[in-house]
This record gives sequence, C-alpha cells and structure tokens, in this order.
Amino acid sequence: MEYIISGGKPLKGEIAVYGAKNCALALLGATVLTDEEVVLHNCPDIVDVRNLICLLKAMGKTIVRSQDTVTVSGTLTTICAPKEYATLLRGSALILGSTIAKYHQIALPLPGGCAIGARPMDIHLCGLEALGVEVLDAGDMVSCRGVPRGASYRLRLASVGATENLICACSLAKGTSTLEGCATEPEVVALERMLIKMGAKIEGVGGSILHICGVDSLYGTEFDIIPDRIVAATYLSAAAACCGDVTVTKCRPQDMDAFLRLLEPRFQLSCFSDAVRIVSRSQPHGYGRVTTAPYPFFPTDMQSLLLTLAACSDGDSVIEETLFENRLAHNATQLNCMGGEVIVKNNIAFVRGRKLHGANVVAKDLRGGAGLVIAAMTAEGVSKVDGIEHVNRGYVDLGGMFKTLGADIRSRG
Ligand code: EPU
Repeated sequence: MEYIISGGKPLKGEIAVYGAKNCALALLGATVLTDEEVVLHNCPDIVDVRNLICLLKAMGKTIVRSQDTVTVSGTLTTICAPKEYATLLRGSALILGSTIAKYHQIALPLPGGCAIGARPMDIHLCGLEALGVEVLDAGDMVSCRGVPRGASYRLRLASVGATENLICACSLAKGTSTLEGCATEPEVVALERMLIKMGAKIEGVGGSILHICGVDSLYGTEFDIIPDRIVAATYLSAAAACCGDVTVTKCRPQDMDAFLRLLEPRFQLSCFSDAVRIVSRSQPHGYGRVTTAPYPFFPTDMQSLLLTLAACSDGDSVIEETLFENRLAHNATQLNCMGGEVIVKNNIAFVRGRKLHGANVVAKDLRGGAGLVIAAMTAEGVSKVDGIEHVNRGYVDLGGMFKTLGADIRSRG
C-alpha cells in the first residue's frame, strides 16, 4: 500500500489521540493471568492489536470487540503460541510472563515485528530463569517450564518488554520478588496499575525497583488503555513540519515531556491537562543534539519523527540512537532522496536542515514510515510513500487523519 502526497499544505484543526498500541499489547498479554473477564476500553483497532487478539483466540481465549472496547475471558486451551501469528509482531512476546505464571509452561516461536535491530530476548529469559523457570532457547522457538518462585533480579537494561513479562510472572509467583532496573515507560506503569486492580501486590509502581508479592490468583477487571504518546507526537510533528495550527486532544502531555521540551522553545506551544496546541509559522534553526534513551528521556519511537523535523529545519541537528541500531540509516537515505542532507555515522545522524522536495520513498518500519509521510507532507511537489502496511501496524488510518487536518493524501493499493 502507498500514499500519494502533494506536499506543502499547512495543517489546521483538532485531532484526538486513541489508545496506545504498546499499552494495548501489554494489557492483552496480561489477560492470560486470569480466566475472568478483562474489559479493555480505548483499545486501538490496528494491525498489531488484531494479530495479538488472533493469537490469543487461537490459544483458547474468548475475545469480543465492541467499538473501542475489547473483552477477554476464558482459559488457554494450548500453551503453544501459533507461529502464524507470533511471528507477525514483537508484542507476541508479551504472553511469555503471564502464560508461564498461570500455566507453568509455554512454547513461543521467535516474535516478529519491525526490523529495527537485533532485539534479543536474553533479559526476558534470564529474568525467568532467576525465578526458577527452566528455559530452552532453540533459536527460533523458546520453551519455558516451571513454577515461578519469588527472587531478586536486576535487569541489565531497562527493557520494556522484559519488565512487563517479569512483572506478570512475579504477580502469580510463589513468594516475594524484587525487580531492579525496571523500565518506567507509561505503558509499563499502566500494566502495573491494571494488575493491582486485578489483585496483584506490587509496591513501587512507576519506579525502577518493584517489590512484588505473588498471589494465588488474579481477578477480572475493567481498564482504560492510556492515550498513545507516539501518535500524539506524530500529529504534533506533522503540524510543526507543515506550518500549522493544530490541537491534539485526548492525550497525556506528562507522558511526552522530553518531546514537548524540544518543541517548546521552537514553536508556539500550549499544554493543557489532556491536550496540546501547536502553532508553527516557520522552521527552527535545528534541534541541537538529541540522544534517545529509555523513559523519561527522549524515546526511540519518536526518533524518526525528529529526524524528519531536523531534515526540514533551517539549521543543524545531531541525533543519536542508542536503542535500536537499524532505526536511523534507512530513513536517512530516504530523506536524502527528497533533497535532505543527513549523514549517518554508526548510530549518529548529522543533519543539515533544508527545504525537501517530493520523491518516491519506501517505509521500512512503523515509526520510520510515519516520519516519511510527514517529510512528504512538508516537501515541495508530489511524493509517493510505499510500504504503508508497516505504518498501519501502529496507526489508525494515518493518511486519513492528516487529511482531516488539510493534508493532500491519497492511498493506493
Ligand atoms: N534488549 C536486549 N535484550 C532483551 C530485551 C531488550 O538486549 O532481552 C535491548 C533491545 O535490543 C533494545 C533495548 O534493549 O536495544 C530496549 O528494548 P525493549 O525491550 O525496551 O523494547 P521492546 O520491549 O522490544 C518496546 C516497544 C517498542 C519500543 C521499545 C522501546 C512494544 C510492543 N514495543 O519494545 O515499540 O520502541 O519498547 O521503548 O511495547 C514501536 O511501537 O514502534 C516499537 C518498536
């Protein structure tokens, strides 16, 4: 699928953010911890979520969607995750902790997802081993068996997925666990909050050290998926790049602090409790030096957006990617096809901003694709952005949303 974009149209209007992909995936994974009904509101209808729902259904869960609400109930009938779904998304790894906790075994084919780096699973697996679980890593398939027992474990890196899996595993473990070096992303905190509503005993919510006292069983609950901070940042970036006046509603500005602090001195920004308005009249003199890092620092998922902003700015920027080694290079070449001046050395992009022109470019991953769509929207002339199927994994009709703000976008294929 591709977008044909005629660039140079300013954006204007109001746009609401929907539920976060990475929160929805973690909470869906955690539904395995109980047979009772878990009702998730504000659940985005995007490809990755649909695929995880298919995977859970294939494993025995009953799942019903009614508009934005997804209701999950029932018991797993198999502990083997079907390869046809597991390999479609990285989020399939998020059933690991919950399944081992409740069923004491799992067979998980290597999860798929965006080709943004090696994405090993050693922290997930070492953490489970620390809880006494037997792990067999056969390369393309991970098998785990055993009853998790309370233990202390320090994550060598604040991995979002590993933190989520270990929290789930510890929630039903025999005894008390201490997890150190945990990720503190808002999506992880949402999971901690939902588990507590389900009866889990977690201390230190929102922090990097968690004490979890395992309980015998967890109950059903109802929970609101938090707004997608990356989607909110995508809309704001588009408005910034295209010179516009856009209010992004139903978002949580507190979750986007590092991003908003970058925009604040460069554009007219007004932050409200659940909305952000941006007025952009001209391009700033670059963005300085920005390094991606785990929350609360500048997120890797907003790096491609920033690369586009830097490429169409009126000055120099340096962007360092520390988490996913393949996230810079592809978009750099695509932006250069549009007249950009982006030089990548190892994991650092040196960007000299300039006016971009239309070109045929290809999206290779989800966030990178969103960055290219915005680049095409700000470029002079017509662009074709291919590979939009990657974008659809995490965005609800990105082109259609931009269209409502005044962009000239058609989809094809
Ligand atoms: N890592 C390891 N070993 C592990 C796990 C991670 O070395 O066992 C490394 C990774 O290679 C990476 C770093 O640790 O360099 C951080 O990876 P993390 O585990 O935190 O990422 P993830 O859980 O696989 C989630 C999001 C990503 C987001 C990252 C970082 C989901 C489903 N995915 O991935 O989202 O970029 O956290 O915030 O929650 C996206 O939405 O486009 C996306 C890729």
